[in-house]
Amino acid sequence: MADMTKRRAIVTGARGQLGQDLVKVLSGAGWQVYGPGREELDFTDPEAVEREFARIRPDAVIHAGAYTQVDAAEEDYGGAFLVNAFGTRNVAMEAERYGAKLVYISTDYVFDGTGSEPYRESERTSPVNVYGESKLAGEKFALRLSSRAFIVRTSWVYGLNGGNFVKTMLTLADSRDTISVVNDQIGCPTYTVDLALAVSRLIETERFGIYHAAGGGQCSWYEFARAIFQRAGRTVWLNPVDSSAFPRPAKRPAYSVLGQTALTAAGVPALPHWEAALDAFFHEWEHANAPRYSKLG
Ligand SMILES: NC(=O)c1ccc[n+]([C@@H]2O[C@H](COP(=O)([O-])OP(=O)(O)OC[C@H]3O[C@@H](n4cnc5c(N)ncnc54)[C@H](OP(=O)(O)O)[C@@H]3O)[C@@H](O)[C@H]2O)c1
Repeated sequence: MADMTKRRAIVTGARGQLGQDLVKVLSGAGWQVYGPGREELDFTDPEAVEREFARIRPDAVIHAGAYTQVDAAEEDYGGAFLVNAFGTRNVAMEAERYGAKLVYISTDYVFDGTGSEPYRESERTSPVNVYGESKLAGEKFALRLSSRAFIVRTSWVYGLNGGNFVKTMLTLADSRDTISVVNDQIGCPTYTVDLALAVSRLIETERFGIYHAAGGGQCSWYEFARAIFQRAGRTVWLNPVDSSAFPRPAKRPAYSVLGQTALTAAGVPALPHWEAALDAFFHEWEHANAPRYSKLG
């Protein structure tokens, strides 16, 4: 049964790396949080979404669930669109039925990466891969079907839970002395806790619209890897290479730094610089605690 004494939030993709931190941060901020995994709620099933939303009658919905396998999506256009576009349609329609605020987590991959200045929230989108196209279609459903939608684009996400670039680098270092890392893609690494905190603040406002929320500053994957090994105290020979050294099915934007004017204009503090965020990640990982979760309570 839904607890009707507290504000209720549904987090989709709650078992994903961002979803798990969203559940903790929103719970710490006083929300009654419902975080169904795919087994409890497959949001590509419109009737299942209708039933779950009728049971919970949410005040807010954070739609973090997504088809996130960027390379697999190139060969699975139907699968990516089913989840990222039509799944978002189902979630947005039901959120609107209950007058709930909707946060749709989107991506820097809606841009083509040919820019050289941080992308503004209003800038023309032009995805270069199927994943980006499907996430952009999801943005459109969210904006058209919900009158209370926040689109929150983020990038290069890593967290304590789930697989990500930080963990991949550390695992590779267990078996290799030399690691080649791409040095011609520039973006903003984003720590899930910082993003979840920004989302929890944004949904306290009524300033619906498009936002960019990513770690401050910018770096290449090579620079990110170098910073990871410095903090981990690991000695590894890092070899900067061009993307052409790692041919992959999906093209990636070369430059996808997200400018974050809208967030601060809405009164939400910008996310910390990516290097400070990486320090916090290692601290929270090594100490197996996440002190900032409870600060909002
Ligand atoms: N990771 C990044 O670098 C990055 C960058 C930019 C934007 N984003 C966006 O940030 C959000 C969170 O990403 P993440 O890294 O936390 O992803 P993640 O770890 O892959 O989590 C996504 C979650 O969505 C679930 N899901 C997929 N299809 C579903 C369905 N039909 N019904 C219910 N649940 C479903 C997945 O469940 P299964 O495990 O069962 O598939 C998974 O738990 C996504 O919207 C993503 O597009 C991510």
